[in-house]
Amino acid sequence: MTHALDITIDEYLEIERTYVDAELQRILPPEDEYPQSIHRAMRYSVFAGGKRLRPILCLEAGRLFGTNERPLLRLAAALELIHTYSLVHDDLPALDNDDLRRGKPTNHRVFGEALAILAGDALLTLAFETVAASGLAPPERQARLVKDLAHAVGTRGMVGGQVVDLAAAAHAEENSGAGPPDSVTLHYIHAAKTGSLICAALRTGALAAGASEGDVERISAYGAKVGLAFQIADDLLDVLGSSESLGKAVGKDGRQHKSTYPALHGVEESQRIAARLVDEARAVLAPYEERGRRLGEMAHYLITRQR
Ligand code: IPE
Ligand code: IPE
Ligand code: MG
Ligand code: MG
Ligand code: MG
Repeated sequence: MTHALDITIDEYLEIERTYVDAELQRILPPEDEYPQSIHRAMRYSVFAGGKRLRPILCLEAGRLFGTNERPLLRLAAALELIHTYSLVHDDLPALDNDDLRRGKPTNHRVFGEALAILAGDALLTLAFETVAASGLAPPERQARLVKDLAHAVGTRGMVGGQVVDLAAAAHAEENSGAGPPDSVTLHYIHAAKTGSLICAALRTGALAAGASEGDVERISAYGAKVGLAFQIADDLLDVLGSSESLGKAVGKDGRQHKSTYPALHGVEESQRIAARLVDEARAVLAPYEERGRRLGEMAHYLITRQR
């Protein structure tokens, strides 16, 4: 789907969200398919009302270099499956122990821990099945894309970041007053737990479109910067935002001794760091001129959003 550039960013995001949701509807097994319980649990969290930002970033990156829209949409939807799996597991009692997500009770609160764990597993697995079956690109390029995506969400990416995030919180709790970790560790946690998947959304979109190595690296550099900025904004919303608009609890990072930018750098300095990252990300897009406009707007949106 391409749009006239004169619609606002909010209108644009709404249109794209609907477009991605329709594809997710096609990909997920129906609720009445056996075994119904797991399909119900998967659909519950996917359709609880996420912003679909990773799919939208992926679509924009793919369109920047021009590609077949149908397989690109499959890839975009697969990214949302991975993201939703990460949220279902992130909320589990053994991780962040949250009760509210996307404005609804968390998956394990509705379906129990066992089904929530399995629903997460199944969403992650379905994502890779979807990408593998998408006919996105010639086989060699598709294999690289799958490898890069897997790398981004494993222990050298998202899972690695989550592990250090949890370890740092446990350390802070055991040594009351230990405070947040050093800025290098904090940067690693945020870049890995959240930046990796956001960066992969953009990178795989560009790869699917057959972008040149130089373009793939440029888009990845943009992705790494906005991905980090996105998690800093998430930390800030936990301090400054409201549960009603976010659809999740606020103030929980402090209570759980989480390593956050505001805890280490303070609110204003964190806002400055996020704004600087977004400026740098937009500068990376300069060679694309008008074609990169939406991605430039998205970067700004990612840190100014209220939800
Ligand atoms: C929340 O992500 C979790 C983080 C990685 C910070 P989003 O803010 O994109 O959540 P949804 O998908 O809109 O619910
Ligand atoms: C989420 O980070 C990162 C994931 C990989 C899921 P948070 O734990 O800060 O996300 P929220 O605040 O619960 O959405
Ligand atoms: Mg977490
Ligand atoms: Mg959490
Ligand atoms: Mg958070």
